[in-house]
Amino acid sequence: MNLSSRYLGLQLAHPIVASASPLSATLDGMRLLEDAGAAAVVMASLFEEQIRAEDTAYARYTEQGSESQSEATSYFPELPDYDCGVSGHLETLRRASDALDIPVIASLNGTTSEGWVEYARSLEQAGAAAIELNIYSIPVDLMVSGAEVERGYVDIVRGVKASVRIPVAVKLAPYFSSPGHMAAELVRAGADGLVLFNRFYAPDIDLLTLRVTRSLPLSTAAELPLSLVWIALLSRRLACSLGAGRGVETEAEVVKYLLAGADVVMTASALLRHGPEHLATMRAGLERWLGANGFDSVDAIRGLKDASHVEHVDALFRAQYVASLTDYLPGKLV
Ligand SMILES: Cc1cc2nc3c(=O)[nH]c(=O)nc-3n(C[C@H](O)[C@H](O)[C@H](O)COP(=O)(O)O)c2cc1C
Repeated sequence: MNLSSRYLGLQLAHPIVASASPLSATLDGMRLLEDAGAAAVVMASLFEEQIRAEDTAYARYTEQGSESQSEATSYFPELPDYDCGVSGHLETLRRASDALDIPVIASLNGTTSEGWVEYARSLEQAGAAAIELNIYSIPVDLMVSGAEVERGYVDIVRGVKASVRIPVAVKLAPYFSSPGHMAAELVRAGADGLVLFNRFYAPDIDLLTLRVTRSLPLSTAAELPLSLVWIALLSRRLACSLGAGRGVETEAEVVKYLLAGADVVMTASALLRHGPEHLATMRAGLERWLGANGFDSVDAIRGLKDASHVEHVDALFRAQYVASLTDYLPGKLV
């Protein structure tokens, strides 16, 4: 069975990639992921806050904040490797890139335009095979338009692409008025790959303590459809690699994403829930499914069910939406 796959110009043994998570924050964690059979690993993000935490003034500010205004700490994320700062992160990346046989993709979450460019360069110098930009900004300013937010994304990609030679992927949020247009703009700006979609932390309010709490619940396969639809809609229409993430629990989701047109399938929650060994289970399941259904390679199913096979996809979506509403008509419910 030929499972070989290509992503960002990297040749991979198969299409299942470990996405950024606490499992990929350390050298030992990345070794475990390789041993368990990951085709590539995305290291946990370098957050620009990590760098600023090395700045004593910033450290003092966050310390004071936590004493004088306890609520502030609830909003402020605890970061993996926080005490190691940027030097520790780069050292871990350097050692992992040397030690592992699979590609180690660095992930960057910046906050300033200089930060994005400067730290992308540092990640490249530390040996990253590629960089994934984990762009996370909440447009809280009511005067900032959607167009300005999108321009910000494009500027980040242009800046990073101008400063590194390794491939650059963008991990996108689904919150755009027109995700397809945004994706096309990012590719025009130089993105070599897109990862659909990121998941974010979910603040809540504890009604006993009235404190703002934070959590990042692990995903389930119920979260698959949003990414699945957009992978299918973008497949073959953009000159870039497509990584599908979100809601991969078993080989079933891996197969679905490949059928929709993904070049690779990325997983974090399932590995946190079941351990890195789950990678081998998913890979074996993928192989089994291909064999049982008469396919001899992953390429044979890639994009088989993408939107290029549907003539009026918008009309079809609407028709299916309307039709599915009738499934819940009182007479039909048993
Ligand atoms: C605990 C946890 C930590 C994560 N850390 C990162 C991170 O450092 N950088 C990043 O880009 N994504 C991070 N993610 C997001 C995952 O890489 C992934 O994109 C997302 O969880 C969707 O995949 P899943 O449904 O398989 O979990 C994290 C996810 C979890 C659950």
